[in-house]
Amino acid sequence: MNKDRFKNIGIALVVLLVVSQFVRPSRANPASDPSKALASSVHPPANVARSLDRGCRDCHSNDTTWPWYTNVAPVSWWIIHHVNDGRREVNFSTWGDQPPGRLSRKLGDICEQVERREMPMTSYLLVHSDAKLTDAERQAICDWTKTEQAKIGPVPPEGRGRRGRRD
Ligand code: HEC
Repeated sequence: MNKDRFKNIGIALVVLLVVSQFVRPSRANPASDPSKALASSVHPPANVARSLDRGCRDCHSNDTTWPWYTNVAPVSWWIIHHVNDGRREVNFSTWGDQPPGRLSRKLGDICEQVERREMPMTSYLLVHSDAKLTDAERQAICDWTKTEQAKIGPVPPEGRGRRGRRD
């Protein structure tokens, strides 16, 4: 009796997993103008560019590398959600298209996230051990964000959207 029940649950799970494969949210890498990318519009020092590329590009640019498991639901749903959220917050591919005030705020956020070790995301580091940043690399990122903020100069106080959220 018990054995049958386990068997049925097993079959139901397999069916669910198979059916879930048909729900395929988009994994597109939107096209963007390479001259607007962070690397070509603000030319960060090479070591910083490398750290951002290693640790952040997959979720904060339109040049995401999608490994095989990003094809397998439900893991794919979770990862695609992270990439969409990440791109909305900070997108290196469209850097040159964004207003200076927003960039200045995002630069501050980048330093803060890296200093607090909140980024790169822990779940990402589990499968991308090469994305780990050393203390020196984190420091170099913050030094660069400060230099870049100084170039932008003073910006008006933070704008708030209709829903009161920061953009
Ligand atoms: C696995 C995907 C992933 C990686 C890798 C990643 N991020 Fe994020 N990042 C996100 C997501 C998702 C959000 C939005 C949700 C949140 O804040 O947790 C985010 C938010 C942010 C924000 C805005 C947070 C805020 O509220 O101020 C900054 C800044 C940021 N990331 C910087 C970075 C930097 C810098 C790196 C690399 C060192 C990096 N991220 C690596 C997924 C990622």
